[in-house]
Amino acid sequence: MKLIAPSILSADFSKLGEEIKAVEDAGADWIHIDVMDGHFVPNITMGPIVVEAVKRVTSLPLDVHLMIENPDRYVSDFAKAGATLISVQVEACVHLNRTIQMIREAGARPGVVLNPSTPLSSIEWVLEHTDFVLIMSVNPGFGGQAFIENSIDKIKSLRKMIQDRGLSTLIQIDGGVNEKTIEKISLAGTDAFVAGSAIFGSPNYKQTIDSFRKKIGK
Ligand code: DX5
Ligand code: ZN
Repeated sequence: MKLIAPSILSADFSKLGEEIKAVEDAGADWIHIDVMDGHFVPNITMGPIVVEAVKRVTSLPLDVHLMIENPDRYVSDFAKAGATLISVQVEACVHLNRTIQMIREAGARPGVVLNPSTPLSSIEWVLEHTDFVLIMSVNPGFGGQAFIENSIDKIKSLRKMIQDRGLSTLIQIDGGVNEKTIEKISLAGTDAFVAGSAIFGSPNYKQTIDSFRKKIGK
């Protein structure tokens, strides 16, 4: 099953509740929430208080992407705020295996995220413990950047790693997903697609999501 996760980073924050309702009505599967701390990435966004507010306006799973240093310190706060899925950047985790366990114990589904320059070998020994792997196809920090092409080969290699081990780990992609890139990303073996500017920057969210679905299938 293919999943579409609009990133609220590109939503109009002056009417966040309406924006979330609108993508829910347009057929979104998950709501992607980008948490940035101004240290791990050069931008600052939102924290648990926003996750808690989003939780009140939607029944969709909340997919919380932590681009922060020392994520262990905040995992339980985000889980309590209502995060369904919590992903952490492998580059920010000294004890990744422990962080994954912490997420699960807090009641959320764990995911690990790899920056464009981070090799797949970094998750070799945690693959069986995580529910999903998020491949960053831009350098994290901002919406609206261009898709980094070699992410396609990275997805294909990850798909093979997962298949070879007989796992059911989901592959998620984040960055530069749009009408032009989504089909090849899907064909490489992606399950879940994060899209910010391509959805919230479009005049009709439903038309955009419908068109994505036509390109990626069910
Ligand atoms: C980037 C974030 C993304 C961002 C994607 O650091 O992790 O989720 O919102 O934006 P687009 O879809 O515009 O590339
Ligand atoms: Zn993200």
